[in-house]
Amino acid sequence: MSSPRSDHRNILRIATALSAGFSLVLLSGCKLTEVFNLSGPQSTMVTAGPVAARQWDLFMVTVYVTTFIFIVVGSVLAYAQIKFRAKSEADEHAAPPPQGHGNPLVEIGLIVASVALLVIIAIPTLRDIIYTHDVPEAEKANAMEVTATGYQWWFKFEYPSELVKLPNGGEAPLVTGNELVVPAGIPVRVQLRTVDVIHSFWIPKLAGKVDMMPNRGNFLWFKADHPGYFYGQCAEYCGESHAIMRFRVVALSAPDYAKWLEHQKQTARSVTAASLAAAAAAPTGQFAGMKFETGDALAGSAAFDANPLESWRNMQKPEAGEDAALIATGRKLFSDKTCVSCHAVRGHEGIGITGPDLTRVGSRSTIAAGVLENTPARMRDWLKQPNHYKPGNKMWFGGFNLQDNSGDWQPNPQMTLSDREITALVAYLHSLK
Ligand code: CUA
Repeated sequence: MSSPRSDHRNILRIATALSAGFSLVLLSGCKLTEVFNLSGPQSTMVTAGPVAARQWDLFMVTVYVTTFIFIVVGSVLAYAQIKFRAKSEADEHAAPPPQGHGNPLVEIGLIVASVALLVIIAIPTLRDIIYTHDVPEAEKANAMEVTATGYQWWFKFEYPSELVKLPNGGEAPLVTGNELVVPAGIPVRVQLRTVDVIHSFWIPKLAGKVDMMPNRGNFLWFKADHPGYFYGQCAEYCGESHAIMRFRVVALSAPDYAKWLEHQKQTARSVTAASLAAAAAAPTGQFAGMKFETGDALAGSAAFDANPLESWRNMQKPEAGEDAALIATGRKLFSDKTCVSCHAVRGHEGIGITGPDLTRVGSRSTIAAGVLENTPARMRDWLKQPNHYKPGNKMWFGGFNLQDNSGDWQPNPQMTLSDREITALVAYLHSLK
């Protein structure tokens, strides 16, 4: 029997649990409207493409079926508890009723009902496994192909059918890092690869998750219903910075995508006093009205989140106030400080493949694989203390620091950067539009 006292305690317990859950939501930085609409940037519940929509619909089928089972079983249980409860002292001490040894009708009925419910789940499951596995036949001719490669902890994207001319005269697929730009309304088939451990490719609003396995080809496909800016995330534990191994998918209208592609195929932008004078009439400062978050707040700022796609578009334009001399200094430092051996800047000195291709790093909306908004201030933070923002990253362990003979990490004098040098490097990297 429950006393008024234990009722109170229970109510208190429920209230505590509810307020704890609520505080967790608030602490995690979720916006309340997003919580109620279930529409956060990494929500799978408000979808933007057919693959994610099918995955969501299938989830809801199982929700409906299990809710039905819950109600039926719960009702029978409640009925039995109320109807056969002990109503008097005598009931409580009565001998147990005669025990049966099963009822064939009930047992067969339960088996048939269970099978029927499983079939109800199995039919859409099989249908959707087939649909989400690969681009449907009817759309295959229209599909485009990209290769995504997982690295600890960032993503490389290659466009095998879009070849770019290399400075040495050769050709290679166009490469970008951490931002996959695609046309909206076109099926995109993504070959999934990894150079190190298992990662998992997931764009919650579009498709996923599918693992990127060492020594094994995998793939998935997705289609964005409309232009937009979508969050991606590695979904398989892959080491220290797994939780912040992110990427973005930017879906553009067909003409915008064609324009973007055309621009990507050019070699890296070179800023000189003459080129600045020629463009003096044009540049627009995208950061003038953009206040970036301070402290440990990561990508992106409120201004960015208000309209990420538009903010991304602004990132594509050269910035106001570019300083050709500073940019030239930065470009020289990029070589002198050996950044070139890990990062490629097509047409400039960078040729490395260990880190992301930086040919257009200035036009990306985030740096450090989706962790920081790509503002000059954030780029500066990143170059100053990369290990603070992405623990364990290879630029810090292997670049800024090297292992001595006893295995301890020591600062690499060749890569030590003064504040002035960082300023010049940021100017150079942000000129790479
Ligand atoms: Cu890559 Cu987790």
